[in-house]
Amino acid sequence: MFIAANWKMNLDKFSISEFCKNLHNYKFSPKVEACIFPSMPYMDYLNNLIKNLPISVGGQNCHYKPDGPFTGEVSPKFLVDNGCEYVIIGHSERRINGNESNNEIKLRAQLAVNSKLKVILCVGENATDREKGHALKFIEKQLLECLPNDFKSLIVAYEPVWSIGTGRIPNAFDINEMHMHIKKIVLNKSNKKIKVLYGGSVNVENINSILKITNVDGVLVGGASLKVKDFLAIYSAAVKHLNSSL
Ligand code: PGA
Repeated sequence: MFIAANWKMNLDKFSISEFCKNLHNYKFSPKVEACIFPSMPYMDYLNNLIKNLPISVGGQNCHYKPDGPFTGEVSPKFLVDNGCEYVIIGHSERRINGNESNNEIKLRAQLAVNSKLKVILCVGENATDREKGHALKFIEKQLLECLPNDFKSLIVAYEPVWSIGTGRIPNAFDINEMHMHIKKIVLNKSNKKIKVLYGGSVNVENINSILKITNVDGVLVGGASLKVKDFLAIYSAAVKHLNSSL
């Protein structure tokens, strides 16, 4: 079970230090893995504050070249250098605001894998594709075009664009169907079994019902991960879910 906290462009130094103060008395479980994705300049700062805790730090993106004239970009090797274990690739905010194409995302994912980062590859349909009944087809094409050619392990995050930050989430049937679909596509193409996270408006209220969905292997949380109380409540729900399903 995996809890990924995508802080996006939120939380400054002071807020991060306040957040971390509340983590030190909490009893983490070896069964639930957690990773926080802070804003780039605070990676090292956060890593230092949580170095004795079983939480890793990840990057919100990385470039498809190891170095060069790419102002504003970050190399996967710099993420590794700063103690990152994971990197998110292909988040819809990067696709929309940064115009990242499927081909570019594939290159970013491949270099991240080659640089020994664990990749969380995001896919998600927009509202029109979901309403027209095209979601499965859309995701298949997007995933096949973004999947790196060569990888040992990979996590996919299913994040419907219409669900991110809106409070609206697909029903349990649709989430399960999509996660199964994603696992099958990757198995057929790359002969690998992967974990699939659900992302989009995950919060303290809906976490229990999301975790009950068979093919959900964890969650990618944005807004609700900014408050330490909610982050820990979501983490605790995952521990409780695993204990109850033993
Ligand atoms: P949200 O964001 O939880 O605020 O909807 C999720 C994400 O974009 O990863």
